[in-house]
Order: sequence, then C-alpha cells, then structure tokens
Amino acid sequence: MSQRFYVTTPIYYVNDKPHIGHTYTTVLADVIARHRRMMGQDVYFLTGTDEHGQKIEKTAAARGITPKALADEVMPNFRDLWTRMEITHDHFMRTTDAQHKAVVQERFRQLQGTGDIFKDTYKGLYSVSDEAYVTETQAKEMQEQGLAHQLVELEEESYFFRLSSYEHWLMDLYERYPEFVQPEFRLNEVKQFVAPAGERGNLQDLSISRTSISWGIPVPGDGRHVVYVWFDALLNYLSTCREGFWPPTVQLVGKDILRFHAIYWPAFLMAMFREPGDDLQGPLPERVRRQLPQTILAHGWWLMGEDKMSKSKGNVVRPEELLRFGNDAARFFFMREMQVGLDRSFSFEGFMDRLNADLANGLGNLASRTLSMLQRYRKGVVPAAVVLDALDQEVLEAGRAVAPAYLAKAGANDFHGALDLLWTYLRQLDGYIVKTEPWKLAKDEAGQARLDTVLCQLYRALRATAVLVAPVMPDLAQQLWTGLGLPGKVADQRFADFQYEAPAPAPVAEPSPLFQRIDKETIRMEDSPAAPAAAAAAGPVAVPAAVPEAAVAAPPTAAAPAAADPLDVPPVKEAIDYDTFARMDLRVGLVLTAERVPKSKKLIKMTVDIGSEVRTILGGIGVAYAPEDLVNRKVVVVANLAPRPLMGSVSHGMLLAASDAASMPYLVAPPEDARPGYVVR
Ligand code: MSP
Repeated sequence: MSQRFYVTTPIYYVNDKPHIGHTYTTVLADVIARHRRMMGQDVYFLTGTDEHGQKIEKTAAARGITPKALADEVMPNFRDLWTRMEITHDHFMRTTDAQHKAVVQERFRQLQGTGDIFKDTYKGLYSVSDEAYVTETQAKEMQEQGLAHQLVELEEESYFFRLSSYEHWLMDLYERYPEFVQPEFRLNEVKQFVAPAGERGNLQDLSISRTSISWGIPVPGDGRHVVYVWFDALLNYLSTCREGFWPPTVQLVGKDILRFHAIYWPAFLMAMFREPGDDLQGPLPERVRRQLPQTILAHGWWLMGEDKMSKSKGNVVRPEELLRFGNDAARFFFMREMQVGLDRSFSFEGFMDRLNADLANGLGNLASRTLSMLQRYRKGVVPAAVVLDALDQEVLEAGRAVAPAYLAKAGANDFHGALDLLWTYLRQLDGYIVKTEPWKLAKDEAGQARLDTVLCQLYRALRATAVLVAPVMPDLAQQLWTGLGLPGKVADQRFADFQYEAPAPAPVAEPSPLFQRIDKETIRMEDSPAAPAAAAAAGPVAVPAAVPEAAVAAPPTAAAPAAADPLDVPPVKEAIDYDTFARMDLRVGLVLTAERVPKSKKLIKMTVDIGSEVRTILGGIGVAYAPEDLVNRKVVVVANLAPRPLMGSVSHGMLLAASDAASMPYLVAPPEDARPGYVVR
C-alpha cells in the first residue's frame, strides 16, 4: 500500500476576500500535495472556510443579512480562486456543514464526559478589540503598549477546556518530537507560551464557549452558549478527514495562528484520544502521539514594506493582480521567493523581475534555444551523448546530482531552496552553451560528436526540469514536457522512476515561448492597482551594519546578458581612485555561531572565522535568514572596518550582501572552495 499523506490549509474567514497571503498558504499546500502524488503517495488535501464567529455576525448585521447569507456570498471567492489556480484539494469544507457541526457537538460531549470540559465562571480581563479573554501576562503587554483602555473586567459563565492538565504532555511532545513544529526555530516560541522561561504551572484552562454571540455551533444541551470559534474551526481537520488518512501529515499555518495549532489543537486531540488510565504527568504515550498531527508547518508573512499585509492595514495585494501574468507565474513566484518560515516583502517590481529573469529568460530562453538547435541541427531528433570531454563530464555530473538534491529539499518542503539549486544548474547550462558554441560545432564535421553531446545534455536538463517543477507550475511543465516530445501527462510521472539519462522516445517539437516576457514599461502605464503599493514597498529599507543597498535581480545568465530588466537602483556613487579601493580589506569568512539580537527584528549576532581570528559581527539580515541557516555558511567580510558598538555589543566588520528593491538581503557567497582568510579583490 502506498504511503498516506494528509495535508491541510487553515480554513479562511469569510469576512474578507482572499489576498496573496491566503493564496500563498493554499499554493504551498497544493505544491506539497502534487509533489507527494509524484512521490507515489496517496494524498488527501483539505481546505475550506471558517464561517462562524462574532466578526461575521457583526458584518452581516451591519449589512442587514444573515450570517449564513454572508458566508454563502463570500465563500465562492475562495472556492473559485482555487479552481482558477488549479488547486487540487480533495475537499472544500465549510464549518457550517451539517456533518462538521455534528462532529463538533459529539466531541464536545465526549470531553464533557471525561471531565476535560467543565462549566465555570470566567472572572477576569477581556479585550474588547480582540474579543478575547486575556491572561495576566497578555494584559501586562497590552498595558505596556498603551492599550489598557481596551481591557474590561468581566464575569460570565463559560465552558472551559482543561488545558492546564495537558501542559506536561505538551512539553513532552515538544521535547521528544521536535519535528511537531517546523521550522524548528518556531518551536521555542510555542514552548515559551506553554512554559515561560521553562517554568511549569502557567498554562491556564481555556474558555471554549460564548454567550455573547449566537452565530456558532450551539453547545449541546445548553443553547445559551455557542462553541468558541477555535474549538469549532480546529476540529474541521478531524470532522472532514477522509477515512484511513488520520492523522494529518503536514498542516500549514501562518505564524500568527501557530499557537492555536501547536498548543490548543494537540491538547484537544490528546483529550479525545487518551484512555482513562493514562497518566497525564507521565510521558506522552506513543499511542496518543500517533493520533496527533505529524508536523505543523508555520510559514512567515508577506509584508508590504515592513508591515504584515492585512485587510485592516489596507495594504493588501489581491491574487488577481498576479494572475494576469498567468497562474504558473504566481505559483512560481510564491515558491521561488518565500523561504518557508521567514517573512518576505512583496513588491510588484520584484515580482516582474523574478518572472522575467527566471521564466522568460532563464528557463524559457534555454528551452527555446535547445529546441531550435535540435530542430536546426538534428531535425528534432535527440542524439545520444557519446563523446564527453572534461567540461561535458562536469555538466553531466552536475545534471545527475540535481534531481536528487532537488527532491531532498522539496521533500522537506523547502521549495525555495530546491528551485534555487535547479535554477543554478540552468544557469550553468547557459554558460555551457557559451563555452561550447554549438553553432560553431555545427559548421564543422569534426564538431558533430561534441554537438550531439551538448544537445543531449541540454535536452536531459530540460526534461528533468519539467518533471521537477510540475508540482509548482503544472501548465508550464506540461508544455515543456510535450514540447520535448514526451508522451502523456508530466504530473503522472513518478520521481522514483525518472531516469536522467533515459533516451528520448520521440523527436522534439518546434519551440514555442514558455513565458511571455513582461514589458515593465507598458505595465507601469496601465495604471495597475498594485503599482502604488509596489512603489511604496520598493523604497530602500534601512538595514543596519551590513547591507549595501545594491540591487540584484536573479543573476543575469551568461548566454543572455540582457537577462533582467534594470531595477530602480540608486545612481552609482562618486568615483574613488584605485588606492582608496585598495585600502578595503575583504576576506572570506565562515560563520561559526549565529543568534538573534533580543528586541531586534533584523540584527543577528555572529561569530565569524576570518582565517587570522574569530570576529563578532552583527548583521541586519534577520528578516531574510534564520540564525541556523547562517551557521557554516561562507561569507564575504569587510575585515578592516573599524569596530562599532551596536545594541549592546561591538560589531567588528560587516558582511557583504546584495538586496533588491524589496529589501531582502542576499548574502554574497564566495566560491565553494575558498577558505576562511582568503582575500577577496
Ligand atoms: N480562520 C482562521 C484559521 C482557522 S484554521 C483552523 C484564520 N483565517 S484567516 O483567513 O485569517 O487566515 C488564514 C491564513 O492566511 C493564516 O494562516 C494566515 O497566517 C494566512 N495569512 C493571512 N495574511 C497573511 C500574510 N500577509 N502572509 C502570509 N500569510 C497570511 O486565521
């Protein structure tokens, strides 16, 4: 039997139309689902809408319609968008579905029976703006932020979930199964919430009913109460699971709702799946662990400038603005740009640059050149690679390595990293064309065998690309696949059966453009709704210590020097003479340790081996890199920069990084073989 894989997205509130934040989550889930199918796994993919709660009740009341009518009106915005984006969910659930409601009530009753849910009086503080009870710690935070006026004393009857009883099992889960929360660095946040500074006994019981609203699932046997939205919403994953697929394998969430998914959700499940004799103070039984999600995968936010994109901030980008360049374009952009777990600034400019560089040039260019050379020199028939010199051999080895490396990353849900290495290989092939000059080989009888080799290698690379990127860009991959003369659906391929060096079964087609280059000038003049927002986000962002505000799109390919359009770059600074330049001492360094500087979003404190000594360097790269991604990375250090104090430490030197207009710094990487201490000039 093939392995089962159950993937979910959060269910979306119906008080808003989808923006690209929501779209990103669903696309990521879809890419994972498609990828797993191509791994031969049996996938169940669930998404849907979260339709109860006070906000929806209020919005509906303001419009003079029923909450259900509002939900019916908004829900199709999600459902239809997913159809348009070729999302392959197996089911679209709504929390107003009768079957879901029945399961929520049944589970509520079950937990009442075990004593995990009990009725009591809530006495404490309540935040009017968040419509939520607040703990003392949260109240303190709000007071510090000047939000004390939003707090009121409240006393009301409520049903509670005995969350405090599960503190020990939760901590045991985090300790023994750290893969439960990914990326790993998010686990700390969760632990901190359950046991601040490692101290036990702080987790409070959770109120899970409301009498102040009526739009929700009634508490069974007590119609004055409705079930709290999160108890209702989280149970969707259980109520709508397909038989045989429990528990979820990967559950995608934004970092803002991690706490609900990594604390409340497993605690609810522990209560539902434990047995009466289980010791809640002992280790979490393996039997119970097996009923919990394997991994909660928390992604970061799409930002506008430095703010979260959200309806309340009025800075949202709608998916339609990206979809006019095609579904594959939007999907590729999301996967290529966002490193799962970290935040990313969106800019429309960055979006267009990425597509032009990677799809119109990059892959598109390579495909059309390869197909036209195959047509011109070999009538479309793909030759075998028989004669290989050292360069050919190098390209062959790199090609053989690329699929396993890609699959390893994608299998760990790192599509950003996977695509990055695949496009690095495609750039290597551009260089290969430049070096081998197939058009010259074609002219000469003695060049024919070598030409065969070059053409064959290009073909293989494109075929591998079509298979690997099929989950990300289903249509573009299919077009490429068919263009290469390959039969059937690329999505039906299985990664395990793929053979990099398999002979071509049929001649290739005439080239047809894979991706139409975006003419940015025309787009600007079209008065795009995204343009003003993009311009606002494109301004230089101050990044302390390390990052020159240079502008870099994807590196232009050797074969196509006109690769990326120019960005909005600052003018080149005033000239300096050679001696001034030569006074700068740049060295290859190796990052030994890295940690975030407390209270700073951007700063990371590193120790860096620069050959002659180990330095402390603070760099403003925390939005783009997690500390664990930096350790063991080779960097370029400005070694003779005078030390300067920064956030309570002294930074001695800085790291070179390049950033695009959207402000994400990319660290400049020395060649692989360079050792710490090498001089860069
Ligand atoms: N209804 C709850 C989830 C219940 S799941 C049992 C909810 N809905 S939501 O519509 O507000 O958000 C759904 C998801 O969209 C969340 O994972 C959230 O993080 C994600 N995003 C909303 N804005 C986002 C960005 N700006 N960037 C990335 N994702 C964001 O929460």
